[in-house]
Formats: sequence, C-alpha cells, structure tokens
Amino acid sequence: MHVSALLTLLPFISLAYASPLTERSEAFDVSKHLGNLSPYFSAPAPSGGVQNDLPGDCKVDQVILMHRHGARFPLSSELVFIQNLAAKLVNSTDAIQKAKLPGNLQFLKEGYKSTLGHDNLTAIGRAELFDHGAQFKLKYPDLVPTSVLAGLQDRVIESAQWFANGYFGRDWAALNATMFQTIPEDNVTISWITPMGTCRNWQYAYGNNATIAWGAHYLPPITKRLNKLLPAVNLTTDNVHGALYACAYDGAAYGLDKSPWCSAFTPSEIEDFEYELDLLMDGAFGYNLPGDMGPVLGSVYVNTLLDRLTNETGTAEEVYLEFGHDTTIDLALVGLGLVEDIPGLSTSSRKSGRKFRTSLQVPFGAQMVWERFSCEKTLVGRQVRLVLNDAVVPLVGCASGKEKMYGSCEVGEFVKSQSKARGIKWGDATWNATCGDAGF
Ligand SMILES: *[C@@H]1O[C@H](CO)[C@@H](O)[C@H](O)[C@H]1NC(C)=O
Ligand SMILES: *[C@@H]1O[C@H](CO)[C@@H](O)[C@H](O)[C@H]1NC(C)=O
Ligand SMILES: *[C@@H]1O[C@H](CO)[C@@H](O)[C@H](O)[C@H]1NC(C)=O
Ligand SMILES: *[C@@H]1O[C@H](CO)[C@@H](O)[C@H](O)[C@H]1NC(C)=O
Ligand SMILES: *[C@@H]1O[C@H](CO)[C@@H](O)[C@H](O)[C@H]1NC(C)=O
Ligand SMILES: *[C@@H]1O[C@H](CO)[C@@H](O)[C@H](O)[C@H]1NC(C)=O
Ligand SMILES: *[C@@H]1O[C@H](CO)[C@@H](O)[C@H](O)[C@H]1NC(C)=O
Ligand SMILES: *[C@@H]1O[C@H](CO)[C@@H](O)[C@H](O)[C@H]1NC(C)=O
Repeated sequence: MHVSALLTLLPFISLAYASPLTERSEAFDVSKHLGNLSPYFSAPAPSGGVQNDLPGDCKVDQVILMHRHGARFPLSSELVFIQNLAAKLVNSTDAIQKAKLPGNLQFLKEGYKSTLGHDNLTAIGRAELFDHGAQFKLKYPDLVPTSVLAGLQDRVIESAQWFANGYFGRDWAALNATMFQTIPEDNVTISWITPMGTCRNWQYAYGNNATIAWGAHYLPPITKRLNKLLPAVNLTTDNVHGALYACAYDGAAYGLDKSPWCSAFTPSEIEDFEYELDLLMDGAFGYNLPGDMGPVLGSVYVNTLLDRLTNETGTAEEVYLEFGHDTTIDLALVGLGLVEDIPGLSTSSRKSGRKFRTSLQVPFGAQMVWERFSCEKTLVGRQVRLVLNDAVVPLVGCASGKEKMYGSCEVGEFVKSQSKARGIKWGDATWNATCGDAGF
C-alpha cells in the first residue's frame, strides 16, 4: 500500500482498534510484551544459525526442569490499582454515557467492572501447567523422575499439581504421597527456589526506585492522552497504571481476547509497561541489586545445577521436576551471566536491544530446561544445553567448534566457565559480605 493511502485510512483504522497500526506496520502482539505477566509463549528460536533441535544421533540422559507457576490473579498490591480505576469509572458513569468515545474505548459504555481474585492461579494458569506436563512426558518419555519439588506457596504447589496430572495422568493421585515434596519459602531455609529469603541485606537492597522513576517518566504522557478522550473522568497516573495491569490480568484470568484495556494503548505504551516490569525484576532479582548481590543469589541455583550435571556425589537423578517463580529463573540467569546488559538498564529511556527481557525469560508458566546429552558423532563428550521457553539459549564462554551450532558445551567446560558461581558458597565470606552474616 502506498504511504499516503495508508495515512488517509488511519483515522478509520484507529477507530476500529487503538493505534497499533500508526506505530509500526507489522502486527504487534500484546501477549508477547507483558513482561513477567505475559501468558506462556515459546521464545523465538535463537539467532545466528544456532539450531533449536538436537541432531538425531544425540540422546538426552538427564533433564533438569525449573518451572514457573502458571498465570495468576494480580497480587493484592496490584489489584488495588485496578479496583481504584474501576471505582473511578463507576463514579463517571453519566459522563461516559454522554462522551463520544473512539472504538477502542467503547467498552466503557457497558461499564468496566473487575471481579478479579488475587494471588491464586487462574484457569489459564492451570491449563498452561497441564499442557506442559503432558508435553514434557512426550518429549522425554524414557527418563524417570522420582520426585516433584515445589516452593511452599499455594500457586506454586497448585502448578506442580496440574503439571503432574498432565505428566503422570491419574497415577499421580497415588504417586503424590511418595513423590511430592515442598521446600519452605522463608528466611531460614536455604533454597535455590527463593535464595533471597536467607540474604538478610536483600530486604533492604530490594527497591523499586528504578520502577518508580520509570513510572514517573512514561505514565504522565499516557494519562494526558487518555484524559483528552475521557475529560470527565480525570484519570490519574495510578489509574492508568491500573488500566495497564487490567490489560495484563484480565488476560491472565480470562484470555487476552477478553481483555478490553489492551487495545486502549499503543504498542509503544505497552512496551513502556513491559520495560517497567523488566526494571522491577532487574531491581529486585537482577543486575540492579547493589554490587554483586544478583550473581551471588543466583549462585545458589547454579551450584545446585552443576552438582547435578557432574554427579560428583553419585546421587544425581535423571529427571528433576521443580516449581518456583519468575524470580527463581531470573536469578539463575543472572548467576549464569547470560542476560547482562552493559551498561545496565536506564530509567530515563527504554533500552530496546536489551538482553534482560522478562517477556522472553519468565512469562507465566516459564520453563527452564537443562538437557545433558551425548552424541554418537556430531559432538564430542557429555554435553549440556539450556532450553528456555522452548528456545535454546546458547551457553557463553565454554563452547568450541560445532558446539556453537547447538548452543551447548561439554559439561566439564561448562563447569569451568561458571567459576564465579562455583567460587561462592552459601554462608562463605562472599555471601556474608553481600548478604550480611548468614546466621539466624
Ligand atoms: C466516588 O464518588 C464518591 C462520592 O462522591 C467519593 O466519595 C469517592 O471517593 C469517589 N471514588 C473515586 C474512586 O473517585
Ligand atoms: C486460593 O485458593 C484456595 C483454594 O481454593 C482458597 O482457599 C483461597 O481462599 C484462595 N485465595 C484467594 C485469595 O482467592
Ligand atoms: C499432594 O497431596 C497433598 C495432600 O492431599 C495436597 O495437599 C497437594 O496439593 C498434592 N500435591 C500435588 C502436587 O498434587
Ligand atoms: C524471619 O521471618 C520471621 C517470620 O516472618 C520474622 O519474625 C523474623 O524477624 C525474620 N528474620 C529476619 C532476620 O528477617
Ligand atoms: C530509594 O529512594 C529512597 C528515597 O528517594 C532512598 O532513600 C533510598 O536510598 C533509595 N534506595 C535505593 C536502593 O537506591
Ligand atoms: C483532576 O484530578 C486532579 C488530582 O489528581 C486535580 O488536581 C484536578 O483538579 C482534577 N481536574 C478536574 C478537571 O477535575
Ligand atoms: C550418578 O552416579 C550414579 C553412581 O555412578 C549412577 O548410578 C547414576 O545413574 C548417576 N546419575 C546420573 C543422572 O547420571
Ligand atoms: C558467615 O556468617 C556466619 C554467621 O555469622 C558465620 O558462622 C560464618 O563463619 C561466616 N562465614 C565466614 C566465611 O566468615
């Protein structure tokens, strides 16, 4: 289509569906830009010619899964923004009925109500986990798990339950008694699922200053734009924040096609919200923690992983099925040094080519899968690779020759490349210097 023809059509298009088309010509998929609140989706295949599929002569002999819980209702602290928005709109009912609204805001005439719960898994979350359980069984039919481990939190346990039902089917009801284990998520249990719990300084370091600074930057222009369309409502920046949460969480609860608020925003506005979620995770469970706290916390998972891959104790299992959080996976990636941006994420402008992307790393139902495998011919020695949300994340600093095509490394070389994490143990001098004394 000729550019001028496109421009004349724009007013009509924007009446029909927000303004996505005004910003970029290719389709913008909101569901892939909601950060850690995105519904599960497979990450894009790796670039640079890295193969996502293992060659036919390779056989996986160990698989280590860390699964995030599925889609959930908003946290109570987030729900309040949505409820305040809904209350504001109820107060403005008369004005909204009289207002001339663009197509993407017509839904407001019906009244926007919110009956979202909080914290628990949603039906969409249950489906994500059941599907992943069945798919995991199909992908690794010959490897036999002996246990299922979940962080002791309702939505994590329920996620393990649906996954296990997909994986084991009705046998799970009986297997649960011997196979199911939980690990507390508190401040006295050393856990690779919630390593920050035992890091006393984390609770003071964990700040959302960057998120607040970014919110002050990106929310006012959206608020101004929407208030021009809804002058009688007088939305606040908190209300707009609530509308962005409503987009994500109505999606998490009912499906994004049933989530009216998403189309109220332009792609760029959604990407600003996505960036806020990245900043939040980066600040609390990533590189924006003070000093080396992120990698120090991440080392707890990395060391557990290396122990299992090397099987030095002779007690390693062939399958680990474990359930935790976005924070678990983010900290693990940080400990591994796989998603670092240099310089770090700015709070004054959205960094577009960033490595730290929660949409790709930790959507709801995220699955971090480590495969240990050997090949007859293609690759030499016992190999390991990371498959995150169905896409290989090439391991860095340990691959040679053909391994680079598969993003894998020989296990011993991988261990060597992780000398930083390997050099940290919970309660050692580094841990204490970062976290404060490790006593309770
Ligand atoms: C709605 O209107 C009532 C009555 O005027 C007022 O007390 C309340 O604070 C308003 N709520 C919101 C969210 O604006
Ligand atoms: C979460 O689900 C459990 C089990 O159904 C229920 O007891 C609890 O009240 C729910 N919590 C919320 C916040 O809805
Ligand atoms: C296992 O059974 C216990 C007791 O009935 C239940 O509370 C728990 O949610 C079950 N766990 C899973 C993962 O199914
Ligand atoms: C650990 O948690 C308990 C219970 O929530 C709390 O009373 C205690 O102060 C916490 N300890 C530290 C060191 O944070
Ligand atoms: C966050 O901002 C507050 C107030 O501006 C400040 O006191 C605090 O030190 C900041 N925290 C961090 C971790 O930067
Ligand atoms: C809109 O709300 C702000 C406070 O958020 C207030 O200062 C302002 O007067 C209000 N404007 C109108 C037109 O009601
Ligand atoms: C770990 O080593 C023991 C003892 O050699 C062996 O029986 C077991 O199969 C190994 N496990 C894995 C996953 O390699
Ligand atoms: C770290 O702190 C704990 C608790 O005070 C202490 O027992 C331990 O020896 C410390 N580690 C080092 C290496 O100093």
